[in-house]
This record gives sequence, C-alpha cells and structure tokens, in this order.
Amino acid sequence: MSTLPAVVRTVTELRAFISDQRNLGHSIGLVPTMGALHHGHLSLVDVISQHVDTPIVSIFVNPTQFGEGEDFSEYPRTEQADLEKLATTNTALVYAPSVEEMYPNGDVTTVTVDQITEMFEGTERPGHFAGVATVVSKLLLQCMPNVAIFGEKDFQQLAVIKRFVKDLHIPVNVIGGPIIREADGLAASSRNVYLNATERKTAGQLNVILKNMIKSVRDGEPIKQAENKTTQQLLDAGFSSVDYVSVVEPETLKPMEELAMPARLVAVARIGKVRLLDNMPIE
Ligand code: PAF
Repeated sequence: MSTLPAVVRTVTELRAFISDQRNLGHSIGLVPTMGALHHGHLSLVDVISQHVDTPIVSIFVNPTQFGEGEDFSEYPRTEQADLEKLATTNTALVYAPSVEEMYPNGDVTTVTVDQITEMFEGTERPGHFAGVATVVSKLLLQCMPNVAIFGEKDFQQLAVIKRFVKDLHIPVNVIGGPIIREADGLAASSRNVYLNATERKTAGQLNVILKNMIKSVRDGEPIKQAENKTTQQLLDAGFSSVDYVSVVEPETLKPMEELAMPARLVAVARIGKVRLLDNMPIE
C-alpha cells in the first residue's frame, strides 16, 4: 500500500510547508474539496499535477455554504478513506483545518459576489455562494497557490470563483477540471451515495435527456421550447422535480433566448432530496 500523504491542520503548518517548497523553487497547486472524495476529485489532482510541482488538497466541509435544512451535519466525512485514495495520486500534502481554524471566533468578513450569483444555485440556495466565495478566498490567501482547480460539474461555482479572483486581483490561475462521469453518464458527485438502486437508475437519465436537448437546440429548436420539453421529459423519467434547465452564456451565466456561441446547458433535477447537477457545452 502507498504511504498516506502528510496532513496539516493549521495555517501556520500549511505556510511552513509551502515556504519550504517555494525555497526549493517548486510551484504550488491547490485542489479545494469537502472530502468524500471520488474519482472526479482524484482526476483534479491528476490535472493540476500537469501544471505544478506540488499539489496540495484541502479537505474542509464548509459550514457557511450550507443553508438551513441542507445536509451539513450529515455530509459524509471520510478522512481516512480520502487519504487512502489520495495516496494513489501525486498529492504532496493534505490541509484539513477545523472549523475554528477557518472561522476563528469573532471572524466577521464575508465575500459576496453580485449578478452572477443571482440566478440558478444562488436562487435555489440563498447565501450559498457567499459561503463558497468566503471559504475559497481564505483557502487561496492561506495557500497562495500558482494554480487552483475546481470541477466543471459545479459550473456556476467555477464561474463565480473566476469572477471574484479577477475582481479581487488574487494572483492565482483558476482552472476547471472536466466532469468525470459514471458509465451511464451520471456526473460523479459525493451526494450520489444518497441514491438507492432505483433512484440511481433514474439519475443516469439526466445526462441522456440533456444530450438530446443539445441536439434539438443545435438543430434549430427554439431554446424556450426545448427547455420546457426537457423539463417534462425529466419528470416523465421519474425525477421528482426540476429546479432549472437553461442555456446560458458561460462567463456571466445569463440565460439565452437565441442560441449564440459560446453557450452552456446547465440543469438541476431532484430525486427525492438529492439535487443532481449537470452541464455541458453546446458546441
Ligand atoms: O466544490 C466544493 O467541494 C466546495 O464548494 C469548495 C469549492 C471546496 C468550497 O468549499
């Protein structure tokens, strides 16, 4: 068995490690995660390893990005299994701070991002993006990596992060990692473990139905009509509800009525309490 990566839990230890790496002339990469790692996360480590000498993975289940009634307390915490998975990658260090380390008593600063957060996940999960932007700002400033990578599955999150990094002049290159899919097309997600066998089968239909929508839109079907049709198809396939199906401009996330390139299809459908996100480029 490969050796587990070293774990540090404080900003001081993280910075000492990074300072040693910098003295060796090594570039630093950061892969922020909330743990419960799956092959999607491991692929982010592989991608960032092509860009930097020293990939660091952070594991922190961030309380401020969960709303009331969301799954913060039940969110899977599987550190030992995560470390074993990371041992198979190039991970140089795991940073796994406590809530007190990340949010010391008296901490009153929040990073909020306007416009791009005012639709989709921002409407479905009020306060979510302020929590994400705040914790990612902290992680970036604690680590000061050359490159940070985020999965394209959370496409709006990636767009929000790119935007505040640009607006705040944080000197890091933010890159997206491609969505990793199961054999039936379902996007890998830590929340897929909540699905029972029947629900898991239905979940695979999301990607199939969205791919059909892209084909229809490319063949000239009006966007609004295609969105409505797709929503109905998802409900017929057994999804409990559909939060949104929308064709958007990829940087601003503004919904499109007429197809223009570049464009991205973003969607969320629910099975019971589980929200399944997916998105894909319209090329
Ligand atoms: O995508 C996630 O896992 C989280 O939102 C992130 C970026 C690690 C911030 O907590």
